[in-house]
Amino acid sequence: MLPLILVIGCGSIGERHVRTFLKTGRCRIVACDTRTAILAAMAERYGVSTAADWRAAYRTEPVHAVVIATPANSHVVIAQEALQHGCHCLIEKPLSLNLNGLAELRAAQRQSGRTVAIAYVQHLRPEIAAARAFIRSGQFGRVCHAAVVTGQHFPTFRPAYREIYYRDRAQGGGAIQDALTHMSNAMEWILGPTRSLYCDATHQALPDVEVEDTVSIIARTEAGAMVSYTLTQFQAPNELTILLNAERGSVKVELHLNRWGQCALGDSDWTWHDLPAVVRDTMFIAQADAFLNACADQPSDLATLDEGIRCVCFNLAAFRSLQTKAAVEIEPMGSPG
Ligand SMILES: NC(=O)c1ccc[n+]([C@@H]2O[C@H](COP(=O)([O-])OP(=O)(O)OC[C@H]3O[C@@H](n4cnc5c(N)ncnc54)[C@H](O)[C@@H]3O)[C@@H](O)[C@H]2O)c1
Repeated sequence: MLPLILVIGCGSIGERHVRTFLKTGRCRIVACDTRTAILAAMAERYGVSTAADWRAAYRTEPVHAVVIATPANSHVVIAQEALQHGCHCLIEKPLSLNLNGLAELRAAQRQSGRTVAIAYVQHLRPEIAAARAFIRSGQFGRVCHAAVVTGQHFPTFRPAYREIYYRDRAQGGGAIQDALTHMSNAMEWILGPTRSLYCDATHQALPDVEVEDTVSIIARTEAGAMVSYTLTQFQAPNELTILLNAERGSVKVELHLNRWGQCALGDSDWTWHDLPAVVRDTMFIAQADAFLNACADQPSDLATLDEGIRCVCFNLAAFRSLQTKAAVEIEPMGSPG
């Protein structure tokens, strides 16, 4: 019998998890949501069994792992109980909106020996993974400066933003917690932890919400790299560019063009590595496979719980900087304990 995965929260991203975990052919699914219309849709579209109450779901059959795709303010409580039930956890980003319960979650994870991964799905983008591997090979030396420029037209790509958690920071909304967190995680995955940052952010143009849709952050990593982040959620092009300037050359990722490139000191142009276009479900199937591998004690490149905690610290520092209009040191909770 295939292991049972409980997907808690089957809205926009939870439904994708249901579909893509099924596509691995390696598990069965129970879809859980508090909305009955969603449960009916999951049963009809995917033929999965359903549950309206995630606590009750543990009582019917042993659950191997839990995918937590509710709004971020409920992730930690659900994860803590999942570990108590002996389950592995894949938790959507951001892990949390504050530090409450994170030290306890880290302790529970270590005691349980179960896998806890954070669903920073950019880890499954081959362009980013290849650029990271190249940088970490050391060929170009230390990265001294990096820049991320990204954005998309949210009304086109996520028209439901007005109705969901996104409109409210207290539920995980706004550009910093919802979108920029993917970038801070990707940059920390490549460059290591952030030490300090200065953040400016505001609402500029996204209709029908007041949360920030535009963010600028300048940061320093613990290893001394300067990193700048620029993100909007109203711009026309759907683009993501990462530039990494190292001692002996530069590396660039252009995700919207499915390529990464390198330019060594002395080269007159970039050497590009073009990769096949990626369908969004493909990344999620790869993420599901990687998670199931990690649950079986195989190595994986998924974001760890400590990385997820660091991203929460990054977001909190960004809010503190916004409030104080000053640079902020990242709280020590961000370091692996
Ligand atoms: N990795 C990504 O690319 C990505 C993309 C979008 C959203 N997300 C993250 O996924 C999470 C969910 O986002 P979304 O866009 O799917 O939101 P959504 O509002 O579309 O879906 C959330 C679902 O959770 C359900 N829910 C809420 N509380 C519940 C509970 N106690 N028990 C069971 N179900 C419950 C809601 O009814 C809803 O259907 C957020 O943390 C968000 O940041 C990640």
